[in-house]
Amino acid sequence: AKDGTGKRGSLPDLPFVGAITRYLEQDAPEALRKTVAAADGKRIPDPSYPYAEEMKGKDYDERMAGLQLQLVRLMRDVIHTGKRMVVLFEGRDAAGKGGTIERVRENLNPRSAYIVALPKPSEREAGEWYFQRYVDWLPARGEIALFDRSWYNRGVVEKVFGFCTDAQRETFFRQLPLFETMLVDDGVILVKLWLEVSRAEQLKRFLDREQDPLKQWKLSPIDVEGLAKWDDYGAAIRDTLLRSHSGIAPWTVIRADDKRRARIAAIQAILRAVDFAGRDDEVIGQPDPQITGGPEILP
Ligand code: ADP
Ligand code: AMP
Ligand code: MLT
Repeated sequence: AKDGTGKRGSLPDLPFVGAITRYLEQDAPEALRKTVAAADGKRIPDPSYPYAEEMKGKDYDERMAGLQLQLVRLMRDVIHTGKRMVVLFEGRDAAGKGGTIERVRENLNPRSAYIVALPKPSEREAGEWYFQRYVDWLPARGEIALFDRSWYNRGVVEKVFGFCTDAQRETFFRQLPLFETMLVDDGVILVKLWLEVSRAEQLKRFLDREQDPLKQWKLSPIDVEGLAKWDDYGAAIRDTLLRSHSGIAPWTVIRADDKRRARIAAIQAILRAVDFAGRDDEVIGQPDPQITGGPEILP
């Protein structure tokens, strides 16, 4: 299903298709360009990633089969006992949030487990209490809300692109623990996942998206402009995670260069966050400490 980069006829309304290749050829730091050029097949380009290669497909399928059954039991328990769950999927662009959410949701009841992927705030929403539009999507009894990005936009992308003022961001950090404490105090099970991708792997995924007409829709001007803002992102991310990693609402940080290991780690974190009928700790297994931890494992 490959097509030429930016060829007329693929998706002409995406003017930034081609911008990734241009960035790689013209602007990327030399070391990054070399790392990406050397990347092939299943090898993970970033040398600091704890694994050189993606997990084997057979091992992945076996692990995933057990975890999927556990998710189905969790869903059943949530429905029967009226639990409410919120899972936040956060991370840099192309970290794998979308794909991970798909794997979490694939065997669940779509009426009970739904995805929340809000667009940028409308004019009216921009004039509301910042958390207001997210509150609309919080779960009721028996529901699991899977947030593809969340209120953490204010900590990270809005900071990096100047979409909010410093005062708005400080208000956000002041209200955040109150907001999350209210949710948890009311019985909502809150799971916060941060998928961290390396610069080389991110670029590799962007190139892939650029060349695949089925994936081009995933690229946005934010992704393109964000390429040059890697370090600004890093600073905003560290700041945000450290300021919002609390006892009642801790982060699980997952190094996600290997999509397979990352998906397993994400599902483990969700399953470990809640007690449910039929939970099997042996099937769930221990999180891999090489790629899973708190904000302190950010590279
Ligand atoms: P995604 O990576 O989720 O497909 P983008 O890369 O286009 O989407 O944007 C990243 C995030 O930045 C999204 O949550 C989007 O809503 C947010 N965003 C984009 N533009 C603005 C804006 N002008 N003000 C506030 N948030 C914005
Ligand atoms: P810039 O980084 O200023 O080039 O902006 C990138 C994109 O974000 C453009 O589409 C702008 O219209 C949009 N944008 C920039 N600043 C803001 C802002 N404060 N609020 C909303 N959109 C913005
Ligand atoms: C994904 O891989 O689904 C991403 O994390 C979404 C994005 O490109 O921002």
